[in-house]
Amino acid sequence: MNQDELKAQTGKESVKYIKSGMIVGLGTGSTVRYMVDELGKQVQAGNLTNIIGVTTSSRTTKQAESLGITIKNLDDVDHIDLTIDGADEISDDFQGIKGGGGALLWEKIVANVSDKVMWIVDQSKLVHKLGKFPLPVEVIPFGSQHVFNRLEKKGYKPTWRMDGDKKFRSDENNYIIDLHLEEIDHPAALADELIHMVGIVETGLFLNRVNDVIVGTDEGPKVLH
Ligand code: 5RP
Repeated sequence: MNQDELKAQTGKESVKYIKSGMIVGLGTGSTVRYMVDELGKQVQAGNLTNIIGVTTSSRTTKQAESLGITIKNLDDVDHIDLTIDGADEISDDFQGIKGGGGALLWEKIVANVSDKVMWIVDQSKLVHKLGKFPLPVEVIPFGSQHVFNRLEKKGYKPTWRMDGDKKFRSDENNYIIDLHLEEIDHPAALADELIHMVGIVETGLFLNRVNDVIVGTDEGPKVLH
């Protein structure tokens, strides 16, 4: 199976964990697109009722609403039962890098208030150690060149996330800087260092934030706990 087929497999499988009446966090990305498509189908067929979605990006809101899924603002719900999201890398010890799609800030906020978090990935996302995938950090535009320079001085090999010939803007209108680290030896220490740099709003290091992972494999979907 190619990567896209594996993404479709895990996306579809994850909808089996959604039950009628749930408030569901809907992630962002190409794998999540398959999940939202399937959820829309189940809602339209009447197999899942009273589903409320809380999205992690304007892109997902648009898709979900076009399929007839009821969407509420995060502040209009008192909890989220289950969030299903993608990931860019998951290490052996279940730590993750997210934000390849630029939605890391809302994704982390939604994950934080979720009773359970499930990541859906194709098998290529499982790694021994984090870092090959460039680590995104979201920065406030004001003075962001100075944040970039500091990251460069520290040897973190930053690049601006681009959208054509302009800097990419997140749903909060912030910029994203990708750090080309290759290997992250101490994810917690790095996350702590970055989040304390003035101007950085959030990092794509998602540590101790996932309960279950569904991996799309050639032998079918596998659940890791
Ligand atoms: C978006 C994300 C995505 O979940 C992550 O990039 C995985 O995306 P895809 O399913 O397209 O590979 O964190 O900010």
